[in-house]
Amino acid sequence: PSAPILISFDNSDVLVDSLAQFIVKSQKEAIDKKGKFTVALSGGSLPKMLRGLIDNPSVKWNKWHVFYVDERVVPLDHADSNHRACTEALFSKVPIPSDNVYTLDPELLNDLEELSDAYEKILIREFAQKDSARFPIFDLILLGMGPDGHTASLFPNHELLNEDDRWVAYVEDSPKPPPKRITLTFPVINHASRIVFVAVGKEKAEILKQILDSPETGLPSARVKPVYPGQLYWFVDEAAAAKADYP
Ligand code: 6PG
Repeated sequence: PSAPILISFDNSDVLVDSLAQFIVKSQKEAIDKKGKFTVALSGGSLPKMLRGLIDNPSVKWNKWHVFYVDERVVPLDHADSNHRACTEALFSKVPIPSDNVYTLDPELLNDLEELSDAYEKILIREFAQKDSARFPIFDLILLGMGPDGHTASLFPNHELLNEDDRWVAYVEDSPKPPPKRITLTFPVINHASRIVFVAVGKEKAEILKQILDSPETGLPSARVKPVYPGQLYWFVDEAAAAKADYP
């Protein structure tokens, strides 16, 4: 696999603009090739970083198929819901058909096994094509990174780091609240055509250095290694990049 590409911006406004351009370019390539764009979004601070897509005439919203990298097991209108965060930051402001946003099934919140299986079935349905591989191939996956090096809901030292079969799994013991979540697994993330980590702020500087300069530690974010020809990018601001020696 090719090495991660680190792009550092003077501030988060420039990052937001450049991220929107990058997403539009990925969208165009995907639509030219197969008529749709499949993307998976994270929670945390990421939804607000997508604001460069609002009022952007190049975005073909009706061709987007949006999934969640991870989701907190709460009702869709709950303050902790990643779907709610994305809706407030983006979907309520753009003409995306609501059927094109694939949420968890709010009827299944009491059964994590069923909930994650149901989300996996949606992926199987949406990605099953004649050229489909053992894992879905997202056009783009957007990730965040926690200060402990977690990404998605894949946490340090968790048994899910070694999951090599399921596409969607659940955790009941997330150290970042809330404890119950569902998440895409590493093989799914690593099969994407493009993966972008977005990390801003000085709270991310120390862990970004570890992930980029010492990937052998095996922290979750260092396990994001796209299968060829996939490519990983880091979109960061100067504060986050301050400690890393990475090229
Ligand atoms: C979640 C996330 C999680 C997030 C990181 C970074 O639902 O909690 O998807 O993996 O991306 O914790 O969060 P920040 O961007 O808020 O630092």
